[in-house]
Amino acid sequence: MTYSLVKPSAKILPSFLSALDEGKFIAMQLGHGDWAKEKIVADPNGYITLLNDPAPFTITRNEQHYSITEHELLWITRNGTDEFLGTIAMRYAGNDELIKVYAWHIGMAIRPGLLNKGYGIRSIAVCMDEIRTRSMERGLTFLVATCNETNTASSRLMQHFGFQFEERYEDKLFGGYGLRYKLVF
Ligand SMILES: CC(C)(COP(=O)(O)OP(=O)(O)OC[C@H]1O[C@@H](n2cnc3c(N)ncnc32)[C@H](O)[C@@H]1OP(=O)(O)O)[C@@H](O)C(=O)NCCC(=O)NCCS
Repeated sequence: MTYSLVKPSAKILPSFLSALDEGKFIAMQLGHGDWAKEKIVADPNGYITLLNDPAPFTITRNEQHYSITEHELLWITRNGTDEFLGTIAMRYAGNDELIKVYAWHIGMAIRPGLLNKGYGIRSIAVCMDEIRTRSMERGLTFLVATCNETNTASSRLMQHFGFQFEERYEDKLFGGYGLRYKLVF
């Protein structure tokens, strides 16, 4: 069984929509494209266009505005099918405090019905080379990722792929304490 990273598309949208029926889908996209299912169904083309739009987007926390200027969203699929398995949100550049303190370069989410079944580990194993290549094309020489300190699945996943623990920090934007990991290419 193998996996691909693809751009969000109308072809895969039905599988994405069925994933939303499996439970709360916590897509680590900093709110970008967090539309309710009804809104997506009413405007599927608008939704796909938004997900693929490279224009900067802004998030607001504690009345401060933070912009992500270079980013892309990729969907994980089962190779050769239109089955949606999860998301990889890449943030290559943006507001320093947001990018370099709290959100960093990469956010990943597996669809609710497939959590804790090894999909995270297996799909990253297949897709890591492509993530590295896409990052290096944009001038990155390392990737940093963070998770809430209670998120064992995320911290285990990062450790599996050679991310080194850097720091536990107070997460003033999203709450609680975060763990920061770094992978040097
Ligand atoms: C983080 C995430 C992508 C991992 O994907 P996954 O397919 O659920 O994880 P896997 O089944 O591949 O397991 C990865 C590791 O986490 C552990 N794990 C998975 N779910 C777990 C859970 N609920 N509690 C504790 N550990 C868990 C696994 O045992 C494995 O570790 P091990 O190999 O040391 O035993 C997934 O849990 C997810 O989408 N979470 C919601 C969004 C999120 O928090 N994203 C990360 C923040 S950027």
